[in-house]
Amino acid sequence: MALVSLRQVLDHAAEHDYGVPAFNINNLEQIQAIMEAAEETQSPVILQASAGARSYAGEAYLRHMVLAAVEAHPQLPVVLHQDHGATPSVCQQSIRSGFSSVMMDGSLREDARTPASYEYNVEVTRRVGEMAHAVGVSVEGELGCLGSLETGEAGEEDGVGAEGKLSHDMLLTDPAQARDFVERTGVDALAIAIGTSHGAYKFTRQPTGDILAIGRIAEIHAAVPDTHLVMHGSSSVPQEWLAVIREHGGEIKETYGVPVEEIVRGIRQGVRKVNIDTDIRLAMTGAMRRFLAGQRTEFDPRKALLAAKQAARGLCKLRFEAFGSAGQAPRIKPLPLEAMARRYH
Ligand code: 13P
Repeated sequence: MALVSLRQVLDHAAEHDYGVPAFNINNLEQIQAIMEAAEETQSPVILQASAGARSYAGEAYLRHMVLAAVEAHPQLPVVLHQDHGATPSVCQQSIRSGFSSVMMDGSLREDARTPASYEYNVEVTRRVGEMAHAVGVSVEGELGCLGSLETGEAGEEDGVGAEGKLSHDMLLTDPAQARDFVERTGVDALAIAIGTSHGAYKFTRQPTGDILAIGRIAEIHAAVPDTHLVMHGSSSVPQEWLAVIREHGGEIKETYGVPVEEIVRGIRQGVRKVNIDTDIRLAMTGAMRRFLAGQRTEFDPRKALLAAKQAARGLCKLRFEAFGSAGQAPRIKPLPLEAMARRYH
């Protein structure tokens, strides 16, 4: 099976009321973990790579590892999505490199740190839409800045994140503006700001409605019913993995993520793509620390990496099941990108 577009997978998810986790990839073990969990649960797959992933692994390695994943799991629909493109030219390079979906994050300027004006966001996202849709590639935009409603800060994670203090206006996507944005840009998917942020330090306590605005999703969905909503910063930061890390020498301060049941509530209200990076990193780090601490004479890195892969696989399986994408892969008949391109004309 060739790569499929994000639009096709999320259209199916919307039609059948489920959400699809979009997992960040950087290396072989993460890709294998996600693909094995998807195979086991028969889920469609969204693999996403950030600019940080490209500089870590290298564009050619990432591309070929994803092609290997597609070849090794021929029955699964796989989307290769670029996470947080900072400029139209980054998106263009990803399209050339074979990605079937790109995110133009025009909520921030080219430096991925400075909040951008609304008009700038519309303009860059519209340009990427034109370019991507001509070849059937899907586009995700972002409206509102990701960041904490507790502190007003985003913090930098994987090279992305607004600098300085942000007002609640900037940290919460406005439904009326979302309608205008979608009309003017034609995006397939829209990342929304509802109080989540990237990384392990999202909330200083179990989140409640004042700091995690799940209720806003229904309002945005009502304003843009045909655009698929995306929740970034959706790691749950499992307390059990934090405990494993701490038990084996790691120092992670008290912190809380987005509870899985809140994400499921979000899916019921219109979220279709759920971005997860940190949870895989926590599970892998915990598993490696535990393995290496327990096997002090071991020097074969494959053993620690295998433990990491199994931990990530277990986590991905839980998310595929919780979000309702388990069992959906055989129901998706892949469409070539050329067929998707015709739909935009
Ligand atoms: P987490 O850091 O919560 O995993 O979020 C990842 C993300 O949103 C990538 O775009």
